[in-house]
Amino acid sequence: MSLPSPLSSPVAGFVVDTLRAAGCVFAEDEARLMLSAARTRTELAALVARRAGGVPLEHVLGWAEFCGLRIAVEPGVFVPRRRTEFLAREAAALARPGSVVVDLCCGTGAVAAAVAAAVPGAEVHASDVEPAAVRCARRNLAAAGARVHEGDLYAPLPADLRGRVDVLIANAPYVPTHHIGLLPPEARDHEPLLALDGGADGLDVQRRVATAAPDWLAPGGALLIETSEDQAPSTARAVEDGGLVPRIAESEELYATVVIGIARRSR
Ligand SMILES: C[S@@+](CC[C@H](N)C(=O)[O-])C[C@H]1O[C@@H](n2cnc3c(N)ncnc32)[C@H](O)[C@@H]1O
Repeated sequence: MSLPSPLSSPVAGFVVDTLRAAGCVFAEDEARLMLSAARTRTELAALVARRAGGVPLEHVLGWAEFCGLRIAVEPGVFVPRRRTEFLAREAAALARPGSVVVDLCCGTGAVAAAVAAAVPGAEVHASDVEPAAVRCARRNLAAAGARVHEGDLYAPLPADLRGRVDVLIANAPYVPTHHIGLLPPEARDHEPLLALDGGADGLDVQRRVATAAPDWLAPGGALLIETSEDQAPSTARAVEDGGLVPRIAESEELYATVVIGIARRSR
């Protein structure tokens, strides 16, 4: 059965009203996406019920748009955020065909997929410690020929990448533990704590990434870490303590902050 798509239809009106009543700010946009995703009214009712029950839209639909790509998002995997497109863009700007690119803490692999799409011929690797994220990233990165590794930060990377990585990307968890309770329920209830909680000041994982980065970067290679505006000076300090030369890049449009650390050309 085909569903009515104009939002003026009674079914569509019911979807919009239900979503709005559940507190969805972009009820009309979400209704449009659900109406085009569902093949039957039963499917539509199930999508709407899950969304109205607080499940993130991307988990309901099974995908998110990221840098113009449709990225599969499986249950229990962190939903790629719009602001992270800035990290992907900054990383792509530093990569060339033939560059070795590594996306640590890759989640769905959205950032690696965006860089692979923007820089044909780059050798792209991604890794995450969560098996669900690794499965999802493998789905998203198969077409790009990127390799996805499972394990703690650098541990699962092929040893021959040491000293050869041109662009090292990390959107690691950076929410301070005491802020987790302030996150919207969509994140708290549907994304793994491991994907969000960055420890007391939010920088525990970032510090580990920064400390080991010089061992993996090629001379002149770049480490890019997404962070918040408030945390940026501390992230930059961690990058500098790791032996890289840091700078802070910001996007007002996406309200996004990235710390970029460059490896010295001589060791
Ligand atoms: C904030 S999410 C970001 C996901 C993805 N990079 C993105 O931007 O959509 C952080 C990710 O880091 C992963 N992670 C947390 N601790 C890790 C660790 N020690 N080693 C590898 N991955 C880790 C989580 O499983 C999660 O997928």
